[in-house]
Amino acid sequence: MGQLLEDRFGRVATDLRVSLTDRCNLRCTYCMPAEGLDWLPTDQTLDDDEVVRLITIGVRLLGIDEVRFTGGEPLIRRGLVDIVRRTHDLGGVETSLTTNGLGLHRTAKALAAVGLDRVNVSLDTVRPDSFAQITRRDRLDDVVAGLAAAKDAGLGPVKVNAVLLRGINDDQAPELLRWCLEHGYELRFIEQMPLDAQHGWHRDAMVTAKEILAALEAEFVLTPAAEPRGSAPAELFTVDGGPGTVGVIASVTRPFCGDCDRVRLTADGQVRNCLFAREESDLRAALRGGASDEELADRWVTAMRGKRAGHGIDDPTFLQPDRPMSAIGG
Ligand code: 5AD
Ligand code: SF4
Repeated sequence: MGQLLEDRFGRVATDLRVSLTDRCNLRCTYCMPAEGLDWLPTDQTLDDDEVVRLITIGVRLLGIDEVRFTGGEPLIRRGLVDIVRRTHDLGGVETSLTTNGLGLHRTAKALAAVGLDRVNVSLDTVRPDSFAQITRRDRLDDVVAGLAAAKDAGLGPVKVNAVLLRGINDDQAPELLRWCLEHGYELRFIEQMPLDAQHGWHRDAMVTAKEILAALEAEFVLTPAAEPRGSAPAELFTVDGGPGTVGVIASVTRPFCGDCDRVRLTADGQVRNCLFAREESDLRAALRGGASDEELADRWVTAMRGKRAGHGIDDPTFLQPDRPMSAIGG
């Protein structure tokens, strides 16, 4: 291995988030409009060999040791199982998947068989009516089946990501936690970030980590988990003496940018050094223009130099990134 993906602040990226498609089969209101978005044209999307080549460069030349596949919804990418297999076969790399869970009951076993280590499933509510209201699709049963299949397939510990929305599911934190504890899933609440395509995010409408913890503490005894937080964004608590835990990811109110070890690759082959980056580095053009692995690695290293110290959401000059979450990858 030659270089590291180190930025000007001494942070080293070892965790690569790879978006495999910007498309999705849900329409979460905090993510995209009901009609969906203008999806990336196929010719601009990296094909399976191109994705695997860039991942290989990350792992072999740049110190990446963890690869998380995201979307949009990564399960709708046809080549997913093969991409996971080829990534796992590089050796020494942990692989995981962030998914909305639709169809996971059909692919969990195959994914585990090719070496996928873990899944994170997005689930904001266990009430069918709230689920339909938030995702604009009546598919709660599929997600529940997907979670069970992931656990059976050994893709654990299975994590659940939840976003609370004011006036919609902000009163459901304890019931979601109870359900996850019963099923053996590790729940994490994520503060809503300004990454929706409609630019409808408002700081004062956001349900804060503090509020979430207060709601949980009304029904559970939470004890801060002993293990150090490191670069993991979740603040972890054991629930009622354990072994169950719950996490809160206070991306907005308690940013963890100083410990960030992540870098992102979009489905169209752009390196993003931050979710909130305003610039990208075009690896696709270089790759299709005939660049060598070393040249691609150099470009990637250069892209990290521009990583800013923090997301600056509270800064008056903050500008939401041009791309929404579904096109960046979670
Ligand atoms: N803020 C916080 N989390 C979000 N997600 C999608 N959009 C947002 C947002 N604006 C979550 C999804 C999924 C993960 C990829 O990120 O619910 O769990
Ligand atoms: Fe799809 Fe995830 Fe966006 Fe929901 S939040 S619409 S599941 S990409």
